[in-house]
Amino acid sequence: MCPPNLKALGGTSDIFPSDSDAWQQLESLARHTAHLYGFREIRTPLIEEAAVFTGALGSTTEVVTKQMYQFEDRGGRRVVLRPEGTASIVRAFIEKGLDKTGGLVRLYYMGPMFRAERPQAGRRRQFHQFGAEMFGSASPYSDVETIAVLKRILDSWGLTGWKLKINSLGTPEDRSRILDFIRQKLEPHKDKFSPEELERLEKNPLRILDSKEPVCQVLCGAIDFSEVIADESLDRFDQVLRTLGHMDIPFERDPLLVRGLDYYTHTVFEVVHPALGAQDALGGGGRYDGLVQGMGGVSTTAVGFAIGLERVLIALEALKAVPATTKQPAVYVATTDPAEIPEGLLQAEQLRERSIEAVVNLEDRPLKRQFDQANKLGCRFVIVRGAAEREKKVVTVKDMNSREQRELTQADWLATMADLVKE
Ligand code: HAM
Repeated sequence: MCPPNLKALGGTSDIFPSDSDAWQQLESLARHTAHLYGFREIRTPLIEEAAVFTGALGSTTEVVTKQMYQFEDRGGRRVVLRPEGTASIVRAFIEKGLDKTGGLVRLYYMGPMFRAERPQAGRRRQFHQFGAEMFGSASPYSDVETIAVLKRILDSWGLTGWKLKINSLGTPEDRSRILDFIRQKLEPHKDKFSPEELERLEKNPLRILDSKEPVCQVLCGAIDFSEVIADESLDRFDQVLRTLGHMDIPFERDPLLVRGLDYYTHTVFEVVHPALGAQDALGGGGRYDGLVQGMGGVSTTAVGFAIGLERVLIALEALKAVPATTKQPAVYVATTDPAEIPEGLLQAEQLRERSIEAVVNLEDRPLKRQFDQANKLGCRFVIVRGAAEREKKVVTVKDMNSREQRELTQADWLATMADLVKE
């Protein structure tokens, strides 16, 4: 016996048809846009070995230390519900040997991700991302093109009012200079930090820049680590920014943007939206030139992003721009006598063969209730089947908008219905 009152787990949601139409529209627009840029879909498993993420995302990142759903499976393996897509895709990329073939590989993905965070608006334990990853180009133009895909997807959704923040973390060598620089700047203020912040300062000072503690925010606000980044990296970043300008993609340089995952090199970016409140990132990404090699593959440069679809819907709701529900069956096949139902089933099949969405009455119930249901479903036409129609060899159709009723001959009812539905 099941216990009563079973509910979805906190931070997870059911998506009913009233909302799933909007989801499908967002997904298909994003898919279409990704295809315009030559990206093709990859689908990877929702569960992976824990090692796929622990090394890739960084052992001191919150996603790894606090948020991964990990457990031992029946075979004693440590597995994880994927908290993000990039590391899974790099694992798949290497496993398939794509790192050895060279050339450009463009992949996109969408689906659920899992992070054990404290649920609140815009922060779910199961959430959905649309992401894209481009492998095999070190060119600054590949950063720009990746951002261009992201922008075109946001535009296709009718999303306005967002801001693109961008920064550079340079090469791994630059990065270790950045870490020393942050330590040096913050060491004199150690007494003001909580034990948690002190641990961050020691283990991975970049993470302290993400801190929400006011004292950290003030102290970090004065840090601009671009002064310890090599000229070559700064030139590269400059080229990215100039090309974004050339492409009319607006951005704002944010010297404190470091992103919450450790695999990034050079360009990092985030799209924020004011409708989101505290969780203001709609999406983010950047380059991760060391990850393929770090996960055991042949050194391959890469850049990508992921967008959080729940947050996109929150922003679209605020803009009153959520795609409207459009899908309704066109035709309802009603029957005045239950003996007509088998013929009604056949008639509905004929409509579907013409790609006309049809719903058929399956119960012994009054015609009035069938019309009520047709109305509720939003059907434009109701076909009525009964003894009279059978005798006269006609098909009666009622237009629910004009209330007009007409009789069609058995020879041409289907072709006429197809024309009527198209109108
Ligand atoms: P991320 O910044 O961790 O990056 O996540 C990307 C987006 O997923 C966020 O901006 C947010 O919209 C959404 N998101 C993250 N956590 C949650 C949550 N708990 N609830 C709702 N939405 C959430 C990545 O995941 C990287 N893999 C992006 C990337 C791709 N970098 C390079 N390639």
